[in-house]
Amino acid sequence: MLAIEVKNLRKSYQGKVAVDDLSLEVPPGVIYGLLGPNGAGKTTTIRCICTLLQPDRGTIKVCGLTEERAIRQKLGYVAQEVALDKVLTGRELLELQGALYHIPPREIPKAIDRVIDLVQLGEYADKRSGTYSGGIRKRLDLAAGLLHQPEVLVLDEPTVGLDIQSRLAIWEFLQKLRASGITILLTSHYLEEIDALADRVAIIDRGKLIAEGTPDQLKQNLGGDRVTVKLREFTELELAQKGMAVLAQLPFVRSSLLNPAQGNAINLIVNREAGVQQAIETALSEQGLPLFSYSQSRPSLDDVFLAITGQTILDAELALLEQKR
Ligand SMILES: Nc1ncnc2c1ncn2[C@@H]1O[C@H](COP(=O)(O)OP(=O)(O)O)[C@@H](O)[C@H]1O
Ligand SMILES: [Mg+2]
Repeated sequence: MLAIEVKNLRKSYQGKVAVDDLSLEVPPGVIYGLLGPNGAGKTTTIRCICTLLQPDRGTIKVCGLTEERAIRQKLGYVAQEVALDKVLTGRELLELQGALYHIPPREIPKAIDRVIDLVQLGEYADKRSGTYSGGIRKRLDLAAGLLHQPEVLVLDEPTVGLDIQSRLAIWEFLQKLRASGITILLTSHYLEEIDALADRVAIIDRGKLIAEGTPDQLKQNLGGDRVTVKLREFTELELAQKGMAVLAQLPFVRSSLLNPAQGNAINLIVNREAGVQQAIETALSEQGLPLFSYSQSRPSLDDVFLAITGQTILDAELALLEQKR
């Protein structure tokens, strides 16, 4: 049985569609990643799955169940940001959570000790949550999500704003949870996070599913390599555009894009074949254009996104910000 099954989900806010005809199948026991730029509809999707939002249409099943209360029993939710009462200790907040989830009062202390141990909250449990660092707070959020022993844990951007060490600690913890048989659905706009953790990934853009599979499958389907060409360390726009126009003509180049964040580097997706570098050097030198640097690598999930949407995840986020301004 699938851990989560979403069929034709649609959700709009004030007539504006945020998630459109989205279907997902999350098998049990995996870490499943929902990847997409900010504003893609990730939070909306998982809030619908967690019964916190009512879909306009479509169906949602969690462990085969459709009823709201039954779903909430099966599923733990860790929101991106939790407004903690800073005066209460971690343990007190977990007590509240226990009551909220209708855990019998007698069983709450034991349940709390279990999750405190699980997330290694230890000494912090009896300190005021207002004193916690971001990483410790996130552990408390995880403890709260796990208190009623859900079979499925849903996390929204679990490592946003955390330092690298806390981030790695969360990754390790999620992998341990998976090993214990819990199904994990997490959203992220960090490619590396999804790449490192997810057994399967659904990439969404502007409310629509644009690709689904294992990270390796998605990259392999691309069938090409990423090539980054710089004409200078920081290339003037006009020169970079000229270079890109030349390279885009080459038969093995599948897509091309200028990256202002990399000093107008030219990013290409090329067919994986012999002689690519030589052909690029020749084409540029025939036009009297300099070659400052060349690098070729296996594609990343960002390249998958780029190949399908024509922009990088970062670009998609910037475009959305512009739109809102
Ligand atoms: N409560 C809301 N009211 C109106 N629009 C919203 C609300 N929540 C999200 N949106 C819009 O819906 C779209 C998807 O948002 P969201 O699901 O939060 O995306 P993500 O989590 O991928 O960043 C965005 O355009 C966002 O502005
Ligand atoms: Mg979000």
